[in-house]
Amino acid sequence: MVQPRSMLASTPVESLIPPHALASDKEDRPADLDDALQAGLLDQPAHIVPKYLYDTLGSSLFTAITQLPEYYPTRCEAEILQDHADEIARHVGQVQALIDLGAGDCDKAEKLFPLLRPESYVPIDISVDFLLAAVERLRHRHPSIRIHPVGQDFHQQALSLPEHIASRGRLFFYPGSSIGNLDPAQAQLLLSQVCSLCPGGGLLIGVDRVKSRDILEPAYDDALHLTAAFNLNLLRHVNLQLGSDFDVQDWKHVAVYDEAHSRIQMFLQAQADVVVNWPGGQRSFSRGERIHTENSYKYTPENFTQLLMSAGFTQIQHWTDSRGWFSVYSARSPESRH
Ligand code: TRP
Repeated sequence: MVQPRSMLASTPVESLIPPHALASDKEDRPADLDDALQAGLLDQPAHIVPKYLYDTLGSSLFTAITQLPEYYPTRCEAEILQDHADEIARHVGQVQALIDLGAGDCDKAEKLFPLLRPESYVPIDISVDFLLAAVERLRHRHPSIRIHPVGQDFHQQALSLPEHIASRGRLFFYPGSSIGNLDPAQAQLLLSQVCSLCPGGGLLIGVDRVKSRDILEPAYDDALHLTAAFNLNLLRHVNLQLGSDFDVQDWKHVAVYDEAHSRIQMFLQAQADVVVNWPGGQRSFSRGERIHTENSYKYTPENFTQLLMSAGFTQIQHWTDSRGWFSVYSARSPESRH
């Protein structure tokens, strides 16, 4: 259960989120946000930035998705981290600060605490209330680890860390194949930023592999329709942000594997001709027209190793699960890049 914010009352939010993170949130002024949203809605074809998937309800729905029989990535990744724990720990080396990109409920990183024994833990997530509730629970269970949560959307803004985080022994942890939600060029940019933020340290990253459509599509369109709910919830979030009048009933979730680009594409498809209004704008959609909401790129080990190398990483090793569906890579950032 996600705790309501009132239960965090004893911990001032200002002390949980470093000042620079709050400042960067402010740069995202509602006006800019609305401009980007409107531009996407008016584009041909229409698209909505995936960040609107992750409000508190969206984050809870995603946690539920990870438990679905069809959604294999989370279980495959957990299997890899468990079965190859010692080898992974050896490759990763000494960890001072464990920096968790897209921490969510912090569950995956918590499982690594006994193995990696970090002094500090820096969970970064776009869904701030959800993250703070998770951190509150984590602090009780791990009083000796210093926890510095950061509310940041590093898929949109440059990745930055609070200044007081140890500069040595940084390990970035980027699980769940979230790197696949960026296109390969954006992924390379983010990985380059990560590489330059952890000289002498490294990256532990989970990446979904290219495989047959029969396995991929159900993972993104499950029988219980939780993924549909997750995708459709974005419209409620957009209504709140923009004052638009999307009716969730008018839309349906669609997930297709685009083999040419090795990516799952997520859409919301109009079930009838609809007109959507918002203050200062309007868009008509004909029946069958789609709004693009998210991509999930899949990589072969060769392609992802290449991507890590082009971002500046060295000593790349990877492990896979018994079915070869998912990979976990450990890569080192050179001591000095000059
Ligand atoms: N990082 C997850 C993935 O690509 C995100 C995700 C899973 C997702 N299911 C989704 C995003 C459905 C949008 C819609 O696997």
